[in-house]
Formats: sequence, C-alpha cells, structure tokens
Amino acid sequence: MMSALDREGYLLMDPVEFRARFRERTHHTLEIQTYAAIQAGKRLPEKQAETARKLSRLWVEKGLPTDLPDYLWGQRLISFADTLQAGGRVDLSAYAPRRLTPEEADFFHRVLRERRSVRHWTEEDVPDWMIDRILESGLWAAHSCNLQSIRFIVVREKGMPGLFKGSDIPGGPVHLVILQDERVYRANELMPVRNRLLDCGAAAQNMVLTAHALGLGGVWLTFSDKMVERLAERFRLPEMIKIVTYVDVGFPAQSPAPPGRIGLVEAVLERV
Ligand SMILES: Cc1cc2nc3c(=O)[nH]c(=O)nc-3n(C[C@H](O)[C@H](O)[C@H](O)COP(=O)(O)O)c2cc1C
Repeated sequence: MMSALDREGYLLMDPVEFRARFRERTHHTLEIQTYAAIQAGKRLPEKQAETARKLSRLWVEKGLPTDLPDYLWGQRLISFADTLQAGGRVDLSAYAPRRLTPEEADFFHRVLRERRSVRHWTEEDVPDWMIDRILESGLWAAHSCNLQSIRFIVVREKGMPGLFKGSDIPGGPVHLVILQDERVYRANELMPVRNRLLDCGAAAQNMVLTAHALGLGGVWLTFSDKMVERLAERFRLPEMIKIVTYVDVGFPAQSPAPPGRIGLVEAVLERV
C-alpha cells in the first residue's frame, strides 16, 4: 500500500516530475519484467503491475490527459501483464521492425559516414517541416530510464540576428538549441549524473544525422558561458530548464572532405 504521505506527495507533485516518475517506475517495475516473462514464456508475478496501476490511478486523479503517449504506453504494458497473469500469450509481432536488406543496411552506413560538419550555408530558407523532423528525431533518441528531459528552442538567425554571436564560427541560418528539463531527473536520483549529458548527446547526434538525410548541412556547436547566459536571459528560462548544446542547420554551401577517423586497430583496446 502507498502511504498517505506518498499519495499526497504525488498529488501535489509538479506534472513534469510526476510523468517522469510514471515513466521511470513503469520502465523499472513492469516493462523490463514483462518482456522478460514474454521471452521466457513465463507467468508474471501477481503484483508485478501494482506500481504502474497505482501511478495510473494517480495520473487520472491529478487530472492529467489520458491520451498522452506515456500514459497509453503504461496502459499497454498493464494489458500485457494482465494477459500473462491470466496464462495468455502476448503477441509482439506487430511491433517487429522490418529487417533491413543488406543494401538498405549499406545505405544507412553510407548516410552515417557521409554526414559532415558543414559551416557555410546558402540563403535558402529551411522549411518548418524539416526543422520539425530534425527535432522529432532528437526526441526518438535513446534516453536514460525513458525520463525524456529533452526540450528545444528554435531560432532563425534573421528573426534574432546576433543572438548567437560568440561562437567560433558565424553560424547557420537556423539554430536548434537543445535544453533539458532537470525536473525529470528527480525521478531517479540514483542514476549517474553523466547520463544527463549522454541523453543530450544522443539527441544531438540523431539531429545532425537527420539534417544530413534531408539534404541539409548541420554542425554541432559549443556554447560559451556568456552565450548560455544571454540565451537564458532572452528566453527567461526558469532555473530547472538548462541549456546544454546546440546544432546549426541550413542548406549547405560547402562539402568538406571527411576528416577521417582513427581505425579499429587503434580504437579497440581489447577484444576477448
Ligand atoms: C560536442 C561537440 C562540440 C562541437 N563544437 C564545435 C564548435 O564549437 N565549432 C565547430 O566548428 N565544430 C564543432 N563541433 C564539430 C566537430 O568539429 C566535428 O564533428 C569534427 O571535426 C569531425 O568532423 P565531422 O563532423 O565532419 O565528421 C563539435 C562537435 C561536437 C560533438
């Protein structure tokens, strides 16, 4: 049973933190166990879905919308658990990705290798749909405990000229700032702090790759503390929303030669 204090705490909790807790608890107390049971062809312990059920009831009690993707994902897992607990079989075949052909896999590898950091752009406007696709690809990156900290600010240089001055290059026509809502990390204080940066890095890498796939040129850039301060002030960011990194994109006006990479002989330290 959840104590009265816990329940009150959850009801008073900021919705961003509550949703992150819902995702983290469902991930750690139900998702992993459910897929393991499906894999092993075993029943789930009777109380396995209890935490997710309690948090789902609190979700409704808090008046949060029940058509949000994280709530729906939780309900799907609960329904899988119900099926397993009733001795039924969960069929996951509908979720199986189509396996890439060898040609498609080669093509994907080519896209990875041909992405370059582009630092000169044409005047052509980047359509909003391309920007949205890049941002979405950032949200689909792997993320620690599925906490989903990533947030964005989109700045067209011509809309706010000079806001990004101070970078080592003049910068592109579109600046995609990647921020994190630190409230979500309250959901798992045991998680190493380095995961936070990794969450941002995973999002940014998806984004530069997607920009490349769309025929844009992108570059991942470094913020100076002064720039971070300027942006935080300009957008009146509250304390818990942290600016971490940014990616500039536009239609490319250059095609740099690949800088090359060290080889596997050098990079693989051990292979056992
Ligand atoms: C975290 C990070 C910060 C970067 N910062 C800058 C930067 O401030 N200025 C810049 O011109 N390029 C920056 N880059 C791009 C790198 O210089 C570039 O990825 C590297 O030279 C390899 O080239 P490639 O991306 O074309 O393969 C950054 C890349 C990363 C991952």
